[in-house]
Amino acid sequence: MLVNAKEMLEKARDGHYAVGQFNINNLEWTKAVLTKSQEMNSPVILGVSMGAGKYMGGYKVVAAMVRAMDETLGITVPVALHLDHGNYEAAKACIEAGFTSIMFDGSSLPFDENIEKTKELVKLAHSKGISVEAEVGAIGGTEDGITADGEVADPAECKKIVDCGIDFLAAGIGNIHGIYPKNWSGLHFDALEKINQATNHIPLVLHGGTGIPDDQIVHAIRNGVSKINVNTDCQLVFAAATIEYVNAGLAAPTGDNKTKGYDPRKLLKPGYEAIRAKVEEKIKLFGSDNKA
Ligand code: 13P
Repeated sequence: MLVNAKEMLEKARDGHYAVGQFNINNLEWTKAVLTKSQEMNSPVILGVSMGAGKYMGGYKVVAAMVRAMDETLGITVPVALHLDHGNYEAAKACIEAGFTSIMFDGSSLPFDENIEKTKELVKLAHSKGISVEAEVGAIGGTEDGITADGEVADPAECKKIVDCGIDFLAAGIGNIHGIYPKNWSGLHFDALEKINQATNHIPLVLHGGTGIPDDQIVHAIRNGVSKINVNTDCQLVFAAATIEYVNAGLAAPTGDNKTKGYDPRKLLKPGYEAIRAKVEEKIKLFGSDNKA
C-alpha cells in the first residue's frame, strides 16, 4: 500500500523503533524489499537516488514499476516511495512522477538558499500529500560520486529547517555513507540529543546505515532516530552472492542445455535472496517487524 512516510515515521518515533529505507536499483531489488517487508509485516521506505532513478530509466518508470508491483504482489504493509538526496529539479520531477515522499538535499547550498528552496518544495509536496525530508550539514562518505566528511549538524540550523514545515530531518551526527573507515569515531550521541531537543522530537533520519555497530543503532533509535537508510549493505551481499554463483561455474553453459544456469532468473536469484536476508536482519534490528 503506497503511502507517504509521515505517519509511519511518527508512529516509529512514538513506538521507539525505526523504519528502514532500503535503496532500490532494479526490479529484483524492489521485489526483494517489498516481499520481505510484507512477510515481516513491517512498514518500509524504498529509497531512489538520482543516479538509481536515471539507471532505471527515469522517475516515471520507477513510480510505475513500484505501483504495479505493490498492487500485483498484494502488498498491504505501508510502503513509501522516496527520493533519496534529491536536488531541487529531482524533487520537482519526483513530485510530478508520483513518488509519495521526497528528500530535498540542499545541504551543499548556502544555508539561506537551502531554507528557501525547502520551504517552496514543502508547499508543493504537501499540496499533493507527499512527505518531505530535508538536510542540513553534509553527511559524510560517497554516494553517486559525491564525497563529504562525517559532519555533525548544528542544532540551531536544524530548528530553522524544521520550521520550514518538513516531516523528518536528516541531521549529521558523524555518520558516513558507504563503508566506515577503520578509525571512525562512532556516532555523536551528545549531538543527537541536542538536535532532538532543538527540533521538538521531529522524526530524525540516520543516513549511512551500513556498518554502524548494532549497539549504536539501538542507542540511536532510543534517542529519536526513526528512519535508517541502508544501501551499501544490500549491494555488498548482492555482489557476494552473485560472484559466488558465477565462480561456482553455474552460469556457464553445460552443453546438455539442462541446467541453464545462465538464465538471468537463475543468475540473479542468489543476490535476490541475499537482499531478502539482509532486509530481514535490518527489520529485526530496527524493531519494525509487526508494526505495519
Ligand atoms: P549506506 O550506503 O552507507 O547504507 O547509506 C545509505 C544512505 O544513507 C542512503 O541515503
